[in-house]
Amino acid sequence: MNFEFTEEQIMIQQSARDFAVRELLPGVIERDDNAEFPTEAVKKLAELGFLGMMADPKYGGGGMDTVSYVLAMEEISKVDAATSVVMSVCNSLVNWGLEEYGTDAQKEKYLKPLASGEKIGAFLLSEPDAGSDATSQRTVAEDKGDHYLLNGTKNWITNAYCASTYLVIAQTYPEKKHKGINALIVEKNWPGVTLGPHENKMGMRSSDTHSVMFTDVKVPKENRIGEDGFGFSFAMKTLDGGRIGIASQALGIASGAYERSVKYSKERKAFGTEICNHQAIAFKLADMAVKIENARNLCLKSAWLKDQGKPYGIASAMAKLYCADIAMEVTTEAVQIHGGYGYVKEYHVERLMREAKLTQIYEGTSEVQKIVISRAALKD
Ligand code: CAA
Repeated sequence: MNFEFTEEQIMIQQSARDFAVRELLPGVIERDDNAEFPTEAVKKLAELGFLGMMADPKYGGGGMDTVSYVLAMEEISKVDAATSVVMSVCNSLVNWGLEEYGTDAQKEKYLKPLASGEKIGAFLLSEPDAGSDATSQRTVAEDKGDHYLLNGTKNWITNAYCASTYLVIAQTYPEKKHKGINALIVEKNWPGVTLGPHENKMGMRSSDTHSVMFTDVKVPKENRIGEDGFGFSFAMKTLDGGRIGIASQALGIASGAYERSVKYSKERKAFGTEICNHQAIAFKLADMAVKIENARNLCLKSAWLKDQGKPYGIASAMAKLYCADIAMEVTTEAVQIHGGYGYVKEYHVERLMREAKLTQIYEGTSEVQKIVISRAALKD
């Protein structure tokens, strides 16, 4: 086993860290307060190549490995997870699926501008009545010969407003259940696509989340990804990788809260000494450090498996489950260590705690990850 990073991986990690501190930290509290999308920062993130970092250079991507992606996601998420989710959706949920299963024409037309960061993508699976139960798709893609007629509503769509390219999961043959589902590439500006209002969220407030409605949207047949009926399998395979992104986001939220807690505990005095000298605080820091180290190892293992071309779906579910759960625990302890200061905005940890909660919910709740893991454990 080799636990050392390559020079290139360390460089990417450093560059993400510098970017986060320079471009994201100033204004992060205000953006969160005002639910304001980080437009300028996302443009710069795109210019630096982070939105298409894993796509093949022949499509304008960075050609980097998944380990580098985890390292970059952790650094950006330490500072501003509402920005790192844009990066995660683009890389894992949109670019990857297009590159893996798209036709040459789809890659030319849609992947190239996404991989180069010129455009942003979104992944539309969740519905008002199909969240964890993703096979129960109600959005319909009716087969009309040379095109599909798309009707329905998608919920909780990250990047809904800023994206121009949507990957939409919809039902074509309801009688076939999950085997009748298709994945379609839809352009946001096509007639019949409308957005609901920006969701007023508890955390990640500045990320762009809307519902999306489709009314008689004509989608050419050449915009279907893969064979007829491949859509559910496509979504599940895509989410296997997406979960590495959200796991590393949760890891970053936890490590950001931990670093702030260490610093604060060395500055704040109580009972005649810095609070880090009290075991009540020092032991909390030790517990946080161990959880974060375990979480990082799970993230990197799932990324490494993916980079090696080995199965990674169970590993990514484990990473997502563990990282999200410890992010909640670590950020809650971080607020406790900060005492009253933890409960006000300028110390950041209350925001990190609100952000952590979402990592237990999106791209599959913690319970969904347990379904995936337990089914594998119980198989034969
Ligand atoms: N890869 C490939 N195929 C898979 C698969 C995988 N990882 N997981 C399941 N499948 C296949 C199964 O083999 C099965 O196919 P066959 O019938 O041909 O064997 C089919 O899919 C159905 O599988 P299940 O019977 O396991 O399906 P299920 O209804 O029991 O559900 C589930 C399984 C794991 C709960 C799944 O529905 C799921 O992952 N739900 C959560 C969905 C989710 O993560 N939503 C997040 C939305 S995206 C988002 O949040 C983005 C964002 O904004 C940041």
